[in-house]
Amino acid sequence: MVIDLSGKACLVTGASSGIGNEIAKKLANSGADVAVTARNVEKLSQLTEIINQNGGNAIYFPADILNEKEIDSCVNSAYKKLGKLDIIVHCAGMTIKGLLQDMQPTDWDTIIDTNLRSAFSLARASWKYLQRPEAEQNAKFLVIGSVGSFFGIPLSAAYCASKGGLVQLAKSLAVEWASQRINVNIICPGYVRTPLSESVLKIGETYQKVLSRIPMRRIGSTEDVANAALFLVSPLSDYITGTTLNVDGGLMNAAYTMDN
Ligand SMILES: NC(=O)c1ccc[n+]([C@@H]2O[C@H](COP(=O)([O-])OP(=O)(O)OC[C@H]3O[C@@H](n4cnc5c(N)ncnc54)[C@H](OP(=O)(O)O)[C@@H]3O)[C@@H](O)[C@H]2O)c1
Repeated sequence: MVIDLSGKACLVTGASSGIGNEIAKKLANSGADVAVTARNVEKLSQLTEIINQNGGNAIYFPADILNEKEIDSCVNSAYKKLGKLDIIVHCAGMTIKGLLQDMQPTDWDTIIDTNLRSAFSLARASWKYLQRPEAEQNAKFLVIGSVGSFFGIPLSAAYCASKGGLVQLAKSLAVEWASQRINVNIICPGYVRTPLSESVLKIGETYQKVLSRIPMRRIGSTEDVANAALFLVSPLSDYITGTTLNVDGGLMNAAYTMDN
């Protein structure tokens, strides 16, 4: 199925790796002009080169999502360079695994600020560019939550707290921004093979435990998430706001799974 985003201007955070990288490529392949950001300049440069060589239009603005000024500057630069901003997809995220009682307060802050405060900063910086009058198509603000938005994950209290917070942030923003025609939604992936999930999925026993909880019996791909993102940033989802879309092979709806 073809979803055409021609004429749309997007900003994707966390685009140097994993899910954000795939979403940036998906939006560009669908015709959108794409600004991408993260800290790793080399990976951003590689990504924009691939998109531009394939006939797309991509540009990068490196920024640390923990730094308010860098976020402002990235959003303003993307707006200036692309001439407008219709779509923001916030994928940047990280975790530090450990038991809560062993965790340093600075690690707690880094996780909460990278995953949750960043969404506040990004929303604050981009709001003025996203508001739409009646005559124009809606703008979209999409964030990436997690299975940890709803489930407790061992060694991940701060990560789950940050991702749970993102769901409530998205819902509240959706209500505040509805009259300005900005849709705000959240995708909650289950387990997807990326550098972030590698430490969990590479341990045989943990991998088997995770897999046994997924009714569809497979780990998700970055493309599974990018496909859902494409729908939620397209005009097809104009009447959907404040919604969580789980992309998880059924994981979050399963009390237990059928035996193989
Ligand atoms: N993989 C999964 O199973 C899974 C499941 C549920 C939810 N998620 C969520 O999906 C999102 C993407 O994760 P992923 O799996 O694709 O992980 P990933 O491959 O590790 O990518 C994380 C991205 O976040 C960026 N990032 C991290 N800290 C940053 C900072 N301070 N400033 C700017 N950018 C920063 C990284 O870029 P730089 O290092 O270049 O800055 C990178 O592009 C995250 O929000 C994650 O929580 C992932």
